[in-house]
Amino acid sequence: MTVVIRGGTVVNHDFSQRADVLIEGATIVAVGANLSVPVGAEVIDAGGCYVLPGGIDPHTHLELSFMGTVSADDFEWGTKAALSGGTTMVVDFCIPDRGQSLLAAYQDWRRKAEPAACDYGFHMAVTWWAPQVFDEMQACVKAYGINTFKHFMAYKGALMVSDDELYQSFCRCSALGAMPLVHAENGDVVFGLQQRYLKASIAGPEGHAYSRPPEVEGEATHRAIMIADMAGCPLYVVHVSCQEAHDAIARARVGGKRVFGEPLIQHLVLDEDEYRHPDWDHAARRVMSPPFRPKRHQESLWAGLQSGSLQVVATDHCAFTTEQKRIGRSDFTKIPNGTGGLEDRLAVLWSAGVNRGRLTREEFVAVSSTNIARILNIYPRKGAVAVGADADLAVWDPTATKTISATKQVSRIDYNVFEGMDCQGLPRAVLARGTIAWIDGDLRAQAGSGQYVERKPFPAVQVAHATWREFTAPRPVDRGAVSP
Ligand code: URP
Ligand code: ZN
Ligand code: ZN
Repeated sequence: MTVVIRGGTVVNHDFSQRADVLIEGATIVAVGANLSVPVGAEVIDAGGCYVLPGGIDPHTHLELSFMGTVSADDFEWGTKAALSGGTTMVVDFCIPDRGQSLLAAYQDWRRKAEPAACDYGFHMAVTWWAPQVFDEMQACVKAYGINTFKHFMAYKGALMVSDDELYQSFCRCSALGAMPLVHAENGDVVFGLQQRYLKASIAGPEGHAYSRPPEVEGEATHRAIMIADMAGCPLYVVHVSCQEAHDAIARARVGGKRVFGEPLIQHLVLDEDEYRHPDWDHAARRVMSPPFRPKRHQESLWAGLQSGSLQVVATDHCAFTTEQKRIGRSDFTKIPNGTGGLEDRLAVLWSAGVNRGRLTREEFVAVSSTNIARILNIYPRKGAVAVGADADLAVWDPTATKTISATKQVSRIDYNVFEGMDCQGLPRAVLARGTIAWIDGDLRAQAGSGQYVERKPFPAVQVAHATWREFTAPRPVDRGAVSP
């Protein structure tokens, strides 16, 4: 099929231009002014609109078995929700059980992802450590196109790994040209605080926030950065929610360490007051880790995106229904952790970022698509409106408005954490590898049309750390003035 997107302004991370976009099949074949329209081509009128690279959400948990239940948006509905909001690729997490083969977990996730409506990739979680894991990490990189490994420093007794395991896995990443990801919270301290609050009869959702203060995140982020430096690998910190964690990342980057930080759209606009809501359901629906923070942290996160010390805005989409949240009715530690956001990430980011003057349009493209494509080594196939790139595109109408409401969403859950938020700036049309997936409110995306995207390992020079190389290099012995 041939498609021409006419009369719009193409926005890439580095510059914008008035241009038409010609698509043949799944690929962009021309970008330029006044392109002629081939006979039989479908024409999408982009007058008054921007043409953006489709969003990439590198942090989702679709159909994840977690905390005694399974997240409600599966690959079909999670990816349809994504497409309806302008996101054309997701990267989900294969999470093996302790003792489970990484390769078996990969096969499970491939099976679960078959109904995906947009392209997808996987990060592999390292949840235990043994020679088998060491060996299978290589197969993940070489045979399955996975160049990122996730580590949980929290969820003690479940997914959490020790510093020893972290260090060994980071070293393995370094040798394989892969990059570790961390969920950075000090799981031992969180566990201790949880027990303390439960003993003090604080069992409601507010106890979730009290037991996971910014300090547990700041400490773990700093620790992971130092361990990555000693292992000689870069590091990507997921769901950076507070100033303490951001400061640790910014400091590391100034010191020459290759560290990336990913705030979530939820943490950028929602704050901890949500947990003080008198309605238990309202508060529990917003329980996620790390929790929403006092407002002042939001300014730090926005500043990080503006200055470049934080690079990516994701969602950590892990959606549970109200019924599922009620598993923790009498004990906040049992409330399934996770919130939704896939569908609204771009609209909320545009409204709170571009419309409020915090981000330029080009910066919006960078933090929602291009930066993560580069970090994950899939640029410019993804993350660019350019000849040869996949035709994953959002035709973005900056004048379109909506008030977010669960009653109108594609996601399968019964509420929306952004309920009532007014947004200006929405997709008019969304193309996934050249096929119209969403246009003027009509969801045309087909289950199963998404493809698995393999990612190559990173070149050694990109992985190695200047600081660690310096430290390990043999130094001449300073014998002062005394000659032998
Ligand atoms: O609360 C969260 N974030 N749930 C999903 C699992 C994780 O920690 O990313
Ligand atoms: Zn996490
Ligand atoms: Zn997550």
